Amino acid sequence: MKRLRKAVFPVAGLGTRFLPATKAVPKEMLTVVDKPVIQYVFDEARAAGIEHFVFVTGRNKGVIEDHFDIQDELQRTLEQRNKGAALDILSASLPEPGQTSFTRQQSPLGLGHAVWCARHIIGDEPFALLLPDMVMQDDKGCLSRMVEVYNNTGGNVISTEEVAPQDTYKYGIVGKGEDTAGGFKITEMVEKPPLGTAPSNLIINGRYILQPEIFSILENQQAGAGGEIQLTDAMLTLAKEQDFFGFEFKGRTFDCGSKEGFIKANVAYAMQHPEMATSLRPELLDLLAEIKPAR
Ligand code: UTP
Repeated sequence: MKRLRKAVFPVAGLGTRFLPATKAVPKEMLTVVDKPVIQYVFDEARAAGIEHFVFVTGRNKGVIEDHFDIQDELQRTLEQRNKGAALDILSASLPEPGQTSFTRQQSPLGLGHAVWCARHIIGDEPFALLLPDMVMQDDKGCLSRMVEVYNNTGGNVISTEEVAPQDTYKYGIVGKGEDTAGGFKITEMVEKPPLGTAPSNLIINGRYILQPEIFSILENQQAGAGGEIQLTDAMLTLAKEQDFFGFEFKGRTFDCGSKEGFIKANVAYAMQHPEMATSLRPELLDLLAEIKPAR
């Protein structure tokens, strides 16, 4: 079994749910408290032992590349001014030289197409796929927990989490089979099942460990739902030849591609922030007390 070393971050989407904020600024660069969204996801991958970070980018996304690079002038100015704490924050957020690759999707043809664009950089080895607008709050990190499952099972591993049964129609859903070490066998995958037909209430929540055979399937994948090349369609084909295992994530997930998820993430991380938690708490409670309950 090949060790997991590389991760793909598809950041070429248009972010239409967040317009006009995302007209000139990529949604991955919107900040949750004091870090851009993409930094949380990068940190999760690095904590899981990932050594090469592959960003599939598009128009207007150059600033993501700048974010993961050294800013010489800023660095020198901070050094001259003895701003040690700020320098530490900057260096903690950086990958090592040569650990990143950036490739262009050219046209936003769908998540499956974005993943396929990373094929030459990934090559013939398993890779993690992290949807960068899903920010996962957990002491250990969702991908680290998935790697533990993967080291026992091999194959493909998909992170899932529970939602209320009446919400399953909005998501990709997996069917749950027998338990394996730390996870379970996936028996089926359905994209947005009509109400009452979902095989479980476990949604696919944006973290995957996939085998490289997915690339040759994506190569010939026709556009599916929404006219986009869908990753789920390619995974369904791969599942005919390879095992898929589920991992049930128990931490908190924030969909930072939606306004509501983004605001919730800001509140949740602010309440864990050493400089803000104490002062913010009474102000939040005041604000909430002023809001009349909806009728
Ligand atoms: P989303 O559908 O959530 O992102 O895709 P989006 O298209 O940017 O957002 P909205 O719906 O218009 O607001 C899930 C992930 O797949 C990436 C997105 O960047 C996001 O991280 N993606 C999607 C691509 O990289 N390329 C695509 O063609 C589509």
